[in-house]
Amino acid sequence: MDFWKQFKPGFTILAPMEGVTDIAFRQTVAKAARPDIFYTEFTNVNSYSSEKGRHDALERLRYEPDEQPIIAQIWGTNPDMILQTAQAVKELGYPAVDLNMGCPDRHVVATGGGSGLIRTPDVAVAAIRAAKISGLPVSVKTRLGYSSLGERTDWLSILLNEHPAALTVHLRTKKEMSKVPAHYELIPEIVALKNQHSPETTLIINGDIKDCIDGQKIIEQGVDGIMIGRGVFQNPFCFEKTPRKHSRDELLNLMEYHLDMYEKYHLTPYDPLKHFYKIYINNFPGASEIRARFMDTRSIAEARQILAEIRTAE
Ligand SMILES: Cc1cc2nc3c(=O)[nH]c(=O)nc-3n(C[C@H](O)[C@H](O)[C@H](O)COP(=O)(O)O)c2cc1C
Repeated sequence: MDFWKQFKPGFTILAPMEGVTDIAFRQTVAKAARPDIFYTEFTNVNSYSSEKGRHDALERLRYEPDEQPIIAQIWGTNPDMILQTAQAVKELGYPAVDLNMGCPDRHVVATGGGSGLIRTPDVAVAAIRAAKISGLPVSVKTRLGYSSLGERTDWLSILLNEHPAALTVHLRTKKEMSKVPAHYELIPEIVALKNQHSPETTLIINGDIKDCIDGQKIIEQGVDGIMIGRGVFQNPFCFEKTPRKHSRDELLNLMEYHLDMYEKYHLTPYDPLKHFYKIYINNFPGASEIRARFMDTRSIAEARQILAEIRTAE
């Protein structure tokens, strides 16, 4: 059965986020309220050209069976390496592969990858064709253009004419980064473009969506699925179908679970984990003082100690 067609309109995805959606965080989001689909952080296809790179790629492509369906996102420009990586991803049991064509990071763009591909459509097309040889369903995640919104029709048509299994459109250009509101007004036009060029492609919209309820107005316009990225920082329960208020204890328990997962998967170093604390230590009285204490910690053990103290101080 076609992988993407198993999902009913209105399905939800946790966006790929480098340095964020590793196995520990995905497990934590699954514990809070799971999306219908997970994506990995992106993996550079050049990783597979060296032993060390291959080892690192395998680390970042680790997942638990209970995270299925999970899609591996990859990035790069070399068709041979794209195929090799897509094949490796397939062997790891991923049911589908996604090509990143939207990342604005200057190091990525300097190699021609990510949103750099918007300026080299021939390379983008070759990338899709190469990935398809793996036999996996191939999807693309991209933006509306590189420097101007006026690029959107040509760019999205080129992609759709390759009939990707799914297309995720982040409703901004590369130049806009995340500095302007997502262009929701363009959704009807994008739906029409998709129906004109590749009606069988599953269409996913991304950008500024807060939660499932917020995403509903997008789905009603003929979009198949919604993808949420930073919304999960504001509300780790954002994938709840019926949102409800969560207590401080629930947030602390979720934070503790994240610590457990970070240890379970032997993730290091400690400091990047602190970036997540504002997700959990938020929206309750005294949160900013408590968060300041967590920011001074130097290990998971110290963080656990503070958790125990604030629980017993009740
Ligand atoms: C920290 C961070 C890392 C990201 N890494 C990736 C990535 O690896 N691949 C990708 O396609 N997009 C990446 N993105 C972009 C998100 O997937 C998403 O397109 C963007 O944040 C807009 O959606 P949102 O408003 O729901 O966050 C990243 C975004 C953030 C904030």
